[in-house]
Amino acid sequence: TLRVDTAGSGPEIADSMYGVFFEDINRAADGGLYAELVQNRSFEYDPADNGGYTGLTSWTPSGAAQVVDDAERLNERNRRYLRLDLTGSGGHGVTNAGYNTGIPLTRGDKYDFSVWARTSNAAGTPLTIRLTDAGGAVLARPTTLTVRGDRWTKYTATLRADSTSATGRLRITATGSGTVRLDMVSLFPDETFLNRPNGLRKDLAEKIAALEPGFVRFPGGCLVNTGSHYGYEAPNWERRRSYQWKDTIGPVEERATNANFWGYNQSYGLGYFEYFQFSEDIGAMPLPVVPALVTGCGENRVTDDPALLQRHIQDALDLIEFANGPATSPWGAKRAAMGHPAPFGLTHIGVGNEENLPDAFHERFLRFRAAIAERYPEITVISNSGPDDTGPVFDRHWQLNRASGVDMVDEHYYNDPRWFLENNDRYDSYDRSGPKVFLGEYASRDNRFANALAEASFMTGLERNADVVELAAYAPLLANVDYVQWRPDMIWFDNHRSWGSASYEVQKLFMTNVGDSVVPSRASGTPALTAPITGAIGLSTWATSAAYDDVSVTSEDGTALFADDFSAGADRWTHSSGRGTWSVQDGAYVQADAGAQDTMVTAGDPSWSDYTLRAKATKRAG
Ligand code: AHR
Repeated sequence: TLRVDTAGSGPEIADSMYGVFFEDINRAADGGLYAELVQNRSFEYDPADNGGYTGLTSWTPSGAAQVVDDAERLNERNRRYLRLDLTGSGGHGVTNAGYNTGIPLTRGDKYDFSVWARTSNAAGTPLTIRLTDAGGAVLARPTTLTVRGDRWTKYTATLRADSTSATGRLRITATGSGTVRLDMVSLFPDETFLNRPNGLRKDLAEKIAALEPGFVRFPGGCLVNTGSHYGYEAPNWERRRSYQWKDTIGPVEERATNANFWGYNQSYGLGYFEYFQFSEDIGAMPLPVVPALVTGCGENRVTDDPALLQRHIQDALDLIEFANGPATSPWGAKRAAMGHPAPFGLTHIGVGNEENLPDAFHERFLRFRAAIAERYPEITVISNSGPDDTGPVFDRHWQLNRASGVDMVDEHYYNDPRWFLENNDRYDSYDRSGPKVFLGEYASRDNRFANALAEASFMTGLERNADVVELAAYAPLLANVDYVQWRPDMIWFDNHRSWGSASYEVQKLFMTNVGDSVVPSRASGTPALTAPITGAIGLSTWATSAAYDDVSVTSEDGTALFADDFSAGADRWTHSSGRGTWSVQDGAYVQADAGAQDTMVTAGDPSWSDYTLRAKATKRAG
């Protein structure tokens, strides 16, 4: 029985309440939302990004093609290029295989090719550009352009596909003599979302836009803070997984690529300007997250480097100026130079992600907040609460956040559907005078209809508490089926198709039907939950496995890998493999050695990306 108090008044619901969380995981950016079709376009892939990479990953050279890093480079931030010494007979060139299965081509569609090039041949060097299938059959009329002069210059051409293929290739051949140098070899579909230059893949962007999200949280998750303890300026060009927003703006050929936390290279072609632009294009509030020098995501590292901390704080201030400052301000001018003189209207900024060390994090968070409040008092600075929905780390975060009068706290949790059903009332008892909640990441662990239904049920509890829960985002947003590191996900895609999960439909239902205010209601006679908790808890278990017992893990083919029933209270269970160690103690995840969580979750090593562990557990009594 549902009793609705039509005369009563509940909390108002902000239009921006439901949003999306974008992170470059599962190839969500390069090979996903970012429409670039050429993989490793600047020849910067490096074993430090991923053990399997070289400067020629995704490229097949012919003749004397080699990747070099020398003084003739395109610029200091784009250091490697392809050198072709046109000697002897035979063709000299290079073929790109795109991402995963190949370059998707659609009959009749146009593709915009560009390359930076220079030649030592005073007579010029003709370059022939072809779109082919995997076997070399030509799929578009070839085009030839002539490189002239020994200074780096950008050349462009447009090709029209005569056939459709999901396994296309881009082939470039050079003729003549001398040395020709190539860099930033690029191919975009002529049509991108709203036809923005350096734009986004249309079908994916349209699916996100169709949600009508209230905000876009970017650029991650774990991607944000891990590695922030390293400096990020030359002369140290080591790849260290450190995401710095300043690396991601300006001309794309000057954005130094870097290792992504999730085990592949990130080109930053989809960078902070593009995130702000996309948010504006879809009517969503931009919500960037910056690192706080205390890492989470399995690293538990605190950086005691006041100068580096100060620089990160300054970066946060500069970011606000980049978003909101007048075009005459130093960082506002950079935004204007990229084609957006008007401010983007930033109102919220997140500091940190899932820190396991609340005290160390909070100390640094307060430094960020003070600096931002002094210069931009109108900006809401969001703190966080660690990786779990409950427990000592979570409690300590909240204690500190309350004591400091924090405006808003980011919560994250990935749980089984039953948890979502059982916790509909989670926010009913939250302190109305304390910090507001930004539910920055949540999902029930699978992509079945029942998961989506449990999420929908839970969202009614979020909405009922809209006076406390101001923002909420399902996570993660995107997954390339050929590069899955984390599931469930909201939108799935391959190189040429995309589809929403059942959870996508639930999110869309809520986002496109945001009410004005809650009408109080009460249900009675609802059936009790009786089903036992069993089933796959998946690779993301490490983040939220507290309260589980009787753990067993098998490979997908059913081979038992390890098990423990935790019969003794203080039982400790450790699994070690060549790829790292992870431990469970008394039913709770304890610790993984460096890299182990990466290994389990990110599958940066290609031999792991297809390898699914199934973990079964029963919930501890109580
Ligand atoms: O959404 C995937 C990951 O889950 C995020 O990077 C991290 O914040 C969380 O643990």
